[in-house]
Amino acid sequence: MSGKTVHVELAERSYDIRIGSDLLAEAGAEIAPLLARPRVAVITDESVARLHLPALKAGLAGLDVAVLALPPGEGTKGWPELARTVDWLLEQKIERRDLIIAFGGGVIGDLAGFAAAILRRGVRFVQIPTTLLAQVDSSVGGKTGINSGHGKNLIGAFHQPALVLADVALLDSLPERDFLAGYGEVMKYGLLGDQVFFEWLEANGPALARGDRAMRQYAVLRSVEMKAGIVERDETEQGERALLNLGHTFCHALEKATGYSARLLHGEGVAIGCALAFDLSARLGYCSQELPGRVRAHLRAMGAKTDLADIEGDLPDAGALVALMAQDKKVVDGRLRFILAHDIGDTFVAEKVDPAVVTALLRDELARR
Ligand code: GLY
Repeated sequence: MSGKTVHVELAERSYDIRIGSDLLAEAGAEIAPLLARPRVAVITDESVARLHLPALKAGLAGLDVAVLALPPGEGTKGWPELARTVDWLLEQKIERRDLIIAFGGGVIGDLAGFAAAILRRGVRFVQIPTTLLAQVDSSVGGKTGINSGHGKNLIGAFHQPALVLADVALLDSLPERDFLAGYGEVMKYGLLGDQVFFEWLEANGPALARGDRAMRQYAVLRSVEMKAGIVERDETEQGERALLNLGHTFCHALEKATGYSARLLHGEGVAIGCALAFDLSARLGYCSQELPGRVRAHLRAMGAKTDLADIEGDLPDAGALVALMAQDKKVVDGRLRFILAHDIGDTFVAEKVDPAVVTALLRDELARR
């Protein structure tokens, strides 16, 4: 098989992640050892189906392939489309030992993974992520689920995939904005635990964004290696896995403030949130004053959203943004939980950050808009 393999060791839930180019062509050979009979159910969205389904079907030649293409977009990640998916899988007579393929970005991976988790009390599934964000984050680690009116990802289950095929050739068709949004999660790995990787990104990020396949493959590989290691040590987020939420407390408040709209993509919120997390770390005396500027300089060099000023339209004031954070499930006794940094690549969970410090930081940042 071509490409690189990262193994996720989780006893009977262990699996491989393959990272390479043109893995769709090899999908049938990769998946064959997992099949009890020559039949798979593919869950995808209409945009991915238009662009890439013929190549996947060619790769799965010889198998009976049933396809459900859902509407693209975050709105799909709710009860109605989940119910539709599970009913369709039952109609297709997908059995306990069959295999479901999630073929798409984070929305499809999360929804199809959750459908697999609850169908007949658990059917195996394969992730074939088609966005950078899904390749480096959401397809790995077994978090599956849907959104509720009460918030994002509030309904779900841990259900590890049986295999992940991350084909970086698929990234060629991503719009630049989506690629850069996914890059927010790539940068996050360097910041949260690998200074050398962050330095590599500083040197090579712009070439990678322009389309260099070998560099993209390395960036996905290193991100996935880091995530796999963290998931092996802390599958259900009792401790270390929380570091993967670097930038996310700010991000979630900004996503709520912008109505989960195209004004701010998740990965853009993560990138801005990472810069703010370094600001907060510097204000609280945990890291040097230069580091937030270094994170921002890298994001600017990438042409990525960097500051609150890069979010179009009005934002709530600092107090209202902190109030949005306080609704987060990570709040403990009215104090906020953040991932903070001692240095690039050296982060920790801070359970009880004083909201007044966060409000002051956001007030200063909003004044620069
Ligand atoms: N995306 C964060 C995690 O998988 O834990």
